[in-house]
Amino acid sequence: MSDDDLKTFERAKEMARKDDFPIKGFSHLEWWVGNAYQTAHFLRSALGFSVVGYRGPETGTRETASYLLQQEKIRFIVTGAMTPDHPVSAHVLEHGPGVHDVALQVPDAEAAFELAVERGADPAAKPYVLETDRGRTVTAAIQAYGDTIHSFVQSDGEFPDFEPMEDPIAQPIGLQFIDHVVANVELGKMNHWVEFYERVFGFTMLRHFDDDAISTKYTALMSKVMWDGTGIIKLPINEPAKGLKRSQIDEYLQFYRSAGVQHIAMHTADLVSTVTQASSRGLKTLTVPGTYYEDVWQRMPDLEIDRDRVEALQILLDQDEGGYLLQIFTRMLQDRPTVFFEFIERRGATGFGKGNFKALFEAIEREQELRGNL
Ligand code: FE2
Repeated sequence: MSDDDLKTFERAKEMARKDDFPIKGFSHLEWWVGNAYQTAHFLRSALGFSVVGYRGPETGTRETASYLLQQEKIRFIVTGAMTPDHPVSAHVLEHGPGVHDVALQVPDAEAAFELAVERGADPAAKPYVLETDRGRTVTAAIQAYGDTIHSFVQSDGEFPDFEPMEDPIAQPIGLQFIDHVVANVELGKMNHWVEFYERVFGFTMLRHFDDDAISTKYTALMSKVMWDGTGIIKLPINEPAKGLKRSQIDEYLQFYRSAGVQHIAMHTADLVSTVTQASSRGLKTLTVPGTYYEDVWQRMPDLEIDRDRVEALQILLDQDEGGYLLQIFTRMLQDRPTVFFEFIERRGATGFGKGNFKALFEAIEREQELRGNL
C-alpha cells in the first residue's frame, strides 16, 4: 500500500469510528423493467435466485407487479407496470431495464431521511410506515445520480407488502452478498457525486483510478471508490475521460440516457463453481485473449488454483497488498449496452482488479466495436 493509500485508509477508518449516518448494509436493489415476470425468471434460471415474494393486482397493488428474489444476503426486487402512464413505464421507455433503487438498510429511516435532506440531498419519498400481519417497515428515499434513488429501509429483512412464495425450483450458484455497486456519471460529474457521498453519508474515498490507470489504446475512464469505512457499502463512481474513441462509459450514457447503475458485483466463495454453473445455464461472460494468462501466471506464481479450469472459464485474476481476487464480468443483461453483473471471489484482496482493467476494457471494446459503438 502506498503512503497516500495508507493515509486514505486511515482517514476512512477514523470517519467510520465517528459515524453519524449508520447504515447496516444493502437492503435490496430494485429493477424497473418491461416485464417483471420474465426478468424474475431469468434471475432464477441463469443465476439461481429464489422467488420469495410477489406483490401485484392479486395482492391488492393495482398498477405494478413485483417479484422479490433472494440468494443468501442478496435481494432484488423487479417491478413492471400495468399502464403506459406509470413512472415505471416512463423509466423503462427512457432507460431500458435498469436499477431504479439502490436501497440501504438503516436503523432509523426517518432520522436517516431527515439528516440526508438537511445535508442537501433531494427528497424522493417521505417517510412511510407499512404495517401488515407480516411485519412493519419504515421507508423513505432520496435522489441519487440520474433517475436512481437511495431508499432507506428500516426493517429486519421483511417485506410486509409482498406475499411470501415458495421456490422449489431455484438452484443457487453460490452468490453470497453484494460486494459493490458501480455508477456511471456524466463527464465532469464524478467529483460532484464524490462530494455528495462525503457530505450526505459521511463516506470517504477508498481508492481512485485516473485515466492513466484505466486506459487502452482507444478509450479511457476515471473512477473513484466511495465507501462507508467498514467495507459493507462500496460505491465506485466512473466518469468518461477523453480518448481516441468513444469509451464504454460514453456508450452507457448514450443508451441509458442518463447517469445510472453500470454493474453490480456479487461475492462468491468459489468463483470456479459459480461460473461453471452459470455458464452451463447459458449465462454469457466476457472473454480475454490467450496472452492474458501467460502474464497472469508469471505475476501470480504462488496462487493455488486449477489453472486449466480458470483459463477455460475465462476467469480474471489480480492481486494487491491484501491477497488475491478472482473476478468475471457477464455480458450485457438487456438489449441496450448498459447494465451487467460481476462475480467476485476475494482471497484477501480489497481492490477492484486494477491489474485487469486493461484486458477487461479491451474485451468490452471488442464488443462495442461489434455493436458499431466504438
Ligand atoms: Fe466491479
